Parts: sequence; C-alpha cells; structure tokens
Amino acid sequence: MSEADKTVAELYSLARAASDNAYSPYSGVKVGACVVDEDGNIYSGCNVENSSYGLTQCAERNALATAISAGMRPGTAHKLLIYATGFDVLAPCGACRQVMSELLAGDAQVISCQSETEYHSWAIADLLPNPFVLT
Ligand code: THU
Repeated sequence: MSEADKTVAELYSLARAASDNAYSPYSGVKVGACVVDEDGNIYSGCNVENSSYGLTQCAERNALATAISAGMRPGTAHKLLIYATGFDVLAPCGACRQVMSELLAGDAQVISCQSETEYHSWAIADLLPNPFVLT
C-alpha cells in the first residue's frame, strides 16, 4: 500500500462526509477536504458559496482555516485530501494552491479523490512552483 493509498483509506469517509455539508446552490458542486496535523488531528472543510460569487470559499481553504483556528501550527501538516465527484480529477484552484503552499509542510502531498480507489496525488511544490512569499 502506497502512502497515498493509506491517506485515502484514512481520510476518505471524513472528506466525503464534509462534502455533504457543502453550501453550493449556484454550481451544485460539492467538495470536501481534510487536513491532518503532526499530532494526527484531522480538520475538515467544505465549499461555501455566496450569491456574490467571488466570495465563494473552497473546501481546501475552509479546512485549513478550521485547522489554523483550532491551533494547528503552519507548516506541520503533511497531507490534505480533497473529495469531489463529477470530475475526472478535481485539481485545486490557484487560490487554494497559494494558501496550501503557505500553510502545509513544504513536502506535503495533496490528494484529490472521487472514490476510495480513484485518486490523483501531487506534491505541493509541483502544484505551485515559485509561490508568492512576502519577504
Ligand atoms: N471548489 C472547491 O471547493 N475547491 C477547488 O479547488 C475548486 C472549486 C468549489 C468552489 C465552488 O463552490 C465550486 O467548487 C465550483 O467552482
């Protein structure tokens, strides 16, 4: 079993359950995300849309905001799982890549799944090479 297989097996049900809470009356797309910190704490999020479309919050950023709000230290989470159906693979949006790049560990893996056996895994550094960093 690969590390990605293990992550999907560990987090699949939670990410899927989070997607059930999505508020997405405009797109109909339901996304769930789970992030795990170094102590094994798991934080979930779903997408939350708004009639002012640009205010929509993605599942990944909501999971990370929940994690940080609960005390997760930035740079300590090594895996984040996304769940969505209806896509060959839901590749995270650019805004989420920037936020994941700053808040996950530098060697984190981001995995996007639509079932327990169908997933795609990326290193965060491959999802967003050369992220913006404030110096
Ligand atoms: N969405 C996410 O939650 N994560 C992504 O990485 C891409 C898009 C959501 C936002 C919106 O509610 C819906 O998917 C369609 O864009």
